[in-house]
Order: sequence, then C-alpha cells, then structure tokens
Amino acid sequence: MARYAYVNGRYVPHGDAAVHIEDRGFQFADGVYEVVPIVNSRMVDAGPHLDRLERSLSELTIAMPLSRKVLELVMDELIARNGVNEGLIYMQVTRGVSPRDHKFPSGVRPSIVMTTKRVRFLTQKKLSDGVKVITIPDIRWTRCDIKTVALLPNCMGKTEAAAAGAYEAWQVDGDGMVTEGTSSNAWIVTHDDKLVTRPAGHEILRGVTRQTLLRIAAEAGLTFEERPFSVEEAKSARETFLSSATSFVTPVVELDEVTIGDGTPGPLSRRLQGWYLDYCAGLKNSA
Ligand SMILES: Cc1ncc(COP(=O)(O)O)c(C=O)c1O
Repeated sequence: MARYAYVNGRYVPHGDAAVHIEDRGFQFADGVYEVVPIVNSRMVDAGPHLDRLERSLSELTIAMPLSRKVLELVMDELIARNGVNEGLIYMQVTRGVSPRDHKFPSGVRPSIVMTTKRVRFLTQKKLSDGVKVITIPDIRWTRCDIKTVALLPNCMGKTEAAAAGAYEAWQVDGDGMVTEGTSSNAWIVTHDDKLVTRPAGHEILRGVTRQTLLRIAAEAGLTFEERPFSVEEAKSARETFLSSATSFVTPVVELDEVTIGDGTPGPLSRRLQGWYLDYCAGLKNSA
C-alpha cells in the first residue's frame, strides 16, 4: 500500500515529501508538533491534542495553518489513505519559509506537514514487562510546556538512556526533583497508594495522556497529588510508571539501577494501564 504524507495542501508519496531549505522549522526549530495515537482505527484524544497544538502555536504567535475542521478532515483522509488501524499521526507546523533572519518575519504562511506510521503498540513487551529508566540533569529551556520541535536535549537524553540499556531518561531539576521524561511524563505511587505527578507548569509538557489518566483516576476514586517528587522518593516508591501518547502507561521497574518494588509492574500501574487501554480502544467512556 502506498504511503502518503500531507505537505502544505497536497497528499504526496512519502518518499517525495519535502519542505523548502529556508523553512524556519529547518533553520531555527521555529515550529511545534503533535503526535496522536491511533487504536482500533480511531484517533485517541484528537480534540485535546489539537487544543494543545493551538495553544503551542499561539504561545509562539504562529497562526493555525488550516481551520480546525479542515485539519480534522486532513487527518482522517491521511489515516484512510495510509490504512492505519494501529499507529500514530504526526503533525508539524512551522512559522513558514522566509529568508534566514532571527526575528520573526511577518506575513509568512505557516508550513504544515503530516505523516502517519503503523506501530503494533498493544503487543509491545514494555507494556507487560515494564522498563528501565535513568536520571539525567534537565538542561532544557524554561518553556517546556510548548511542544516545540526543538528537541535536541530530549534526543541527547534518550540516546544516553539507550546507551545505558534503559528505555527513558527522567530529567531532574536543580533541586533534585524529577521534571519529566524526554518524551513522557513521570509518575510514582506512594506507599499509601497515592498517585503523584508533577504539576503542569512551564517545566513540563502538559501530557494529554497525563490529563486523561488524572481524569480516569478521579473517576475511579483514586487519590492523587500534583506535586514535584525527588529522585530519592521515586527510588523508594511503591510503584513508578511513565505516560505518553505512544507509551500509554508503561511501568518503570528500575530507576538508576535501583529496583522498584519487587521489580515487576505494580498493581496500580497495571490497573491504570488496563483502564487506559480500554479507553483508547473505545471500550471505556471516561472523560
Ligand atoms: C517531553 C514530553 N513530555 C511528556 C510527553 C507526553 O505527552 P502526551 O501524553 O501528550 O504524549 C511527551 C510526548 O511526546 C513529551 O515529549
């Protein structure tokens, strides 16, 4: 089956898709992105992902490239053309093409690129077995709430994690508190069964999965706290896990080579994972 990308108004074969060399996304990382998971041929939480796209663009004074309605039509069309039942849709919007100059140009049309990828998410071993995580200093800027394509520190962290045989790196601020993973939010479960995750300020991305999990937890009557937690607290927590659009709820069974709990995914992480996967599959109507 041919694979198409959507580039500035046209559906083009993936291998031929290209943007101009003076696109500001290419030259300055002057753009934002979103990743929406697709499960059972449906997009999961497309609305909140598009809300966040609009917010990220607005924080950077980049206009929406298409109306929300047209954007949704393009997403549906690309998923249908590429026959994606399980996988993801990636979209990137940049300020557009303009002669290289640091200051934001005016009157430039934003560029938009969309691709899809098929991924067999639900049978991944990380969901059932859990993963190892390392910690690293958080060297990013102070507006991590904007989902920009400027991901070099995140790429460096993920590479360091892979070199250490880990799946993810949890970034740590100057006070020894965990901010978030390089592409996921970080969670712990305390010994009195409270879910804890960092508040959604400027230091972290307000994960769409994180928001849905908080809602599911509230509906299930679980207690949770949005507060920072330290690396030490995480290492001695009852359970730890991470969340993202493509990792869902992934248990963390080792942090900096310290075994969490008994080294297997904890009961609360597994329950939340089950509820969340049901929600993704359209079997549970949370929200
Ligand atoms: C830095 C960072 N934090 C958190 C997340 C999780 O966000 P979401 O649940 O919306 O995928 C991501 C996802 O890409 C991320 O890159």
